[in-house]
Amino acid sequence: MSEKKYTWHKIADHINELDFAGNNIAVAEIKGKKISIGKYKEEVFAFAYKCPHAGGILADGYIDALGNIVCPLHRYKYDMKNGRNTSGEGYYMKHWPVEIREEGVFVAMETGGLFGWFS
Ligand code: FES
Repeated sequence: MSEKKYTWHKIADHINELDFAGNNIAVAEIKGKKISIGKYKEEVFAFAYKCPHAGGILADGYIDALGNIVCPLHRYKYDMKNGRNTSGEGYYMKHWPVEIREEGVFVAMETGGLFGWFS
């Protein structure tokens, strides 16, 4: 198995540039692909734009008291930290590391290897 490699992508110059609307979930773009950014207890998480179940727009959902993103369509829940489907339907939500640095907000995505061709 080869080691995973990540590339950091800048999604904003400052966290305040992201529009967290009323639900603490913003939408950002990396290379034209949308992702969701969720804020929970001063921590920031990056995860899929669409729900792995049937494509619900996760930014239209909400973050519950435990830090799960709740999909607006069928209310399946996912842990923003590790993508686990905490309501138990067996799905997995893509998610990525986020870093807030002085020069901006960065999200890491895997590069190289077979699947990196598409990133
Ligand atoms: S599409 Fe998200 S729970 Fe069904």
